[in-house]
Amino acid sequence: MALDISNGDEVITTPFTFFATAGAIQRVGATPVFVDIDPKTYNIDPKKIEEKITEKTKAIMPVHLFGQMADMDPIMELAKKYSLYVIEDAAQAIGSEYKGKRAGSIGTTGCFSFFPSKNLGCCGDGGIVTTNDAELAEKLRIFRVHGSKPKYYHSYVGGNFRLDPIQAAVLQVKLPLLESQHLGRQKNAEFYNKTIKKGLLPHVETYSRMIYNQYTLRFKNRDAVETTLNKATIGNAIYYPVPLHIQKCFDHLGYSEGDFPESEKAAKEVISIPIYTELTHDELSYVAETINNLVEI
Ligand SMILES: Cc1ncc(COP(=O)(O)O)c(C=O)c1O
Repeated sequence: MALDISNGDEVITTPFTFFATAGAIQRVGATPVFVDIDPKTYNIDPKKIEEKITEKTKAIMPVHLFGQMADMDPIMELAKKYSLYVIEDAAQAIGSEYKGKRAGSIGTTGCFSFFPSKNLGCCGDGGIVTTNDAELAEKLRIFRVHGSKPKYYHSYVGGNFRLDPIQAAVLQVKLPLLESQHLGRQKNAEFYNKTIKKGLLPHVETYSRMIYNQYTLRFKNRDAVETTLNKATIGNAIYYPVPLHIQKCFDHLGYSEGDFPESEKAAKEVISIPIYTELTHDELSYVAETINNLVEI
């Protein structure tokens, strides 16, 4: 909204993400244009972006999925070449880095979520937007309060986009602990990397500081793995079972199955296992052992 993206505009993003990424595009009246992922990182494949840029393209919205940033250099180059905004969906990536730069500090804006499952979670819903552009920051602040400045004088139609004060209070307590949360997750990931012998482990690029919002494995027979983990009462989740281009609400975009093979394959094969900092050594070992004992995968 603050970048004035609306009817008739196109925004390029990935179909392998949480719905909100494309939902935000559609809700301002613009059209999500999907580009397949790099199967190693699950992030948008920058090599496939340029062919999707048209006169209507206003922005690229890379998603830093699972806590690893998308390959930002080629994305920023394209944005510069075609004068596009870059909106980083950093919902899962607070504290992650690309070549030493933090998520949300490279694009035009960065969008973060404080949903409880995130590395920095509040006790309900919350989020922030970051930008290095002072003028845009001011506009975002105005949009946050129904588009008013001064109070009761509206130059835009914004919304109630404030961070709830109770959530802010919770976050204020948790923020100083964030770094230790990242380190705990990285330590747990290291254990899994050494110990798990089945399935495809997460791939971390050399440019990345991965903060492991998720630890995601891949199995040909993923559904059997899910059943085994459930039987063993090991928490697990499939992020995400249906890529966005084949969601019912996007029928009108005209995509069909087969359009984004890497995203579709990932949707059938991924499964995420517990990674949070407070896991005990016994719990981590139990998860790894259960996976190593899997048969027929
Ligand atoms: C990749 C991604 N984008 C956007 C969101 C939306 O965040 P929120 O639920 O805080 O609006 C999420 C949250 O789950 C997410 O994982």
